[in-house]
Amino acid sequence: MKDKLQTLEEMNRLAELGGGEKRIEAQHKKGKLTARERIELLLDHNTFHEVGKFVRHREVQFGLDKEHYLGDGVVTGYGKISGRLVYVYSQDFTVFGGSLSESHAEKICKIMDMAMKNGAPIIGLNDSGGARIQEGVKSLGGYADIFYKNTQASGVVPQISCIMGPCAGGAVYSPAITDFIMMVENTSYMFVTGPNVVKTVTHEEVTSEELGGASAHSIKSGVTHFTAANEAVAIQNIRTLLSYLPQNCEMDSPRYDYKTKESEVRKQLADIVPDNPNQPYDIREVILGCIDEDTFFEVHEAYAENIVVGFARMGGKSIGVVGNQPAVLAGVLDNDASKKAARFVRFCDAFNIPLLVFEDVPGFLPGTDQEWNGIISNGAKLLYAFCEATVPRITVITRKAYGGAYDVMNSKHIGADLNYAWPTAEIAVMGAQGAAEIIFRKEIKAADDPEAKLQEKIEEYTEEFANPYRAAYRGYIDEVIKPENTRERLIAAFDMLRNKVDKIPRKKHGNIPL
Ligand code: HXC
Repeated sequence: MKDKLQTLEEMNRLAELGGGEKRIEAQHKKGKLTARERIELLLDHNTFHEVGKFVRHREVQFGLDKEHYLGDGVVTGYGKISGRLVYVYSQDFTVFGGSLSESHAEKICKIMDMAMKNGAPIIGLNDSGGARIQEGVKSLGGYADIFYKNTQASGVVPQISCIMGPCAGGAVYSPAITDFIMMVENTSYMFVTGPNVVKTVTHEEVTSEELGGASAHSIKSGVTHFTAANEAVAIQNIRTLLSYLPQNCEMDSPRYDYKTKESEVRKQLADIVPDNPNQPYDIREVILGCIDEDTFFEVHEAYAENIVVGFARMGGKSIGVVGNQPAVLAGVLDNDASKKAARFVRFCDAFNIPLLVFEDVPGFLPGTDQEWNGIISNGAKLLYAFCEATVPRITVITRKAYGGAYDVMNSKHIGADLNYAWPTAEIAVMGAQGAAEIIFRKEIKAADDPEAKLQEKIEEYTEEFANPYRAAYRGYIDEVIKPENTRERLIAAFDMLRNKVDKIPRKKHGNIPL
């Protein structure tokens, strides 16, 4: 027995050593943690249970029959985050550069199967040189197995990917299918084809960081939802993100204690919307004034900033917040904003997270760039996402709700449960100037002083339409509320909607305009 225990201890030691001291040192020198150190930071202390610790690759070519590392470049298992079960895989760059072999892929798939059967989130910590070159198509098959599982798990359990090193070629498609991507600044990158191929094909000279670093994907492409200055911050943010999410699609998010403090922000809600309808303001001030204090967790903060999305708590319960942002492009809806908000709305709906929409939108952004890049189908994504959402849905119109954007932004007509407006709301087909110029064109042209006539007509239109009352007369707005009462109204409304049941017609799946 003693000898056998010694053998086991030695095997455990070797497995935990990964690619060996030298490679661990090299990993640390790059400012990166090892796969096991990352898991240690991610999970509650002493809760990790490893699965598949002694798995080895089965390749015999290229001398690999003599080169084995227990675990084969990925540490997999389960543990707890804030006391709740999660499954995790963490690629070990010290073993064949974290490259993915057939066995490595099988380990990841096994963990994903467990996560689906037992209904708990999956977190992937990615740090890999891609397909294990020596294994050829077996590795490619392994990737495809993971993509398939990611797709099966989509909408069943939350899936989070953290990119902590290279993630290139087809390997990017696993994170891309998951719900959220987090990238570490300066040490991670993602691209389908790297700088060398780019140079050969398009003659562009670009570094890995420029092409696929955290800032490129958080600002330009929107591929990543979050970035973090270092690995510790990235991991802490994943823990925070999970605090807003349920374990699976059959459960609700955890409830937390909360206090309603009469904070300064809340008192100032009435002063946020400027008198001049063309003056910007930051919709985050409105959001912060309404939600439980210190609970806003923004998603896609640096991408399509004309719309703000993120998680928060209202009365201790998770909600998803979507707000037009008048401080950027006047809060207009464009291609990127539509895609960003649509994906967020769908995530919330898939995981029973109620939606709160703050609306101040002058319409869709005009122009050839927008039309040729598909604002019709992209705008339709957001419209479709709201239309099919069955979670509790509330809208607060703070100022403009113009044109088609009025319909799209969680209007009563597309299934919102409660629609509120502040007295500053302007619900109309378009802004007063545009409307006056069109419907009073002849009258203005015939006037002695066309400019004065235009002003008169603008004022007339503003008086008549730039308010929430016509919509309230028809019941499209359920109540016009004072800004300072918004929080208490929302808490009561979400509480009232707690047991909402709404079913979509039976179908295989809808056909969202992708
Ligand atoms: C096998 C690999 C490997 C790989 C790295 N290694 N990538 N082994 N297969 N894909 C090994 C190296 O041989 C080395 O082994 C160790 O990992 C560390 O690699 P280094 O090159 O020393 O590290 P670094 O300088 O940091 O560079 C990292 C790297 C580079 C940029 C990832 O290793 C690299 O370019 N690797 C190849 C990437 C690639 O072309 N992958 C296939 C992409 S296509 P030793 O023994 O020295 O420690 C793909 C398709 C997926 O992934 C398709 C899905 C559908």
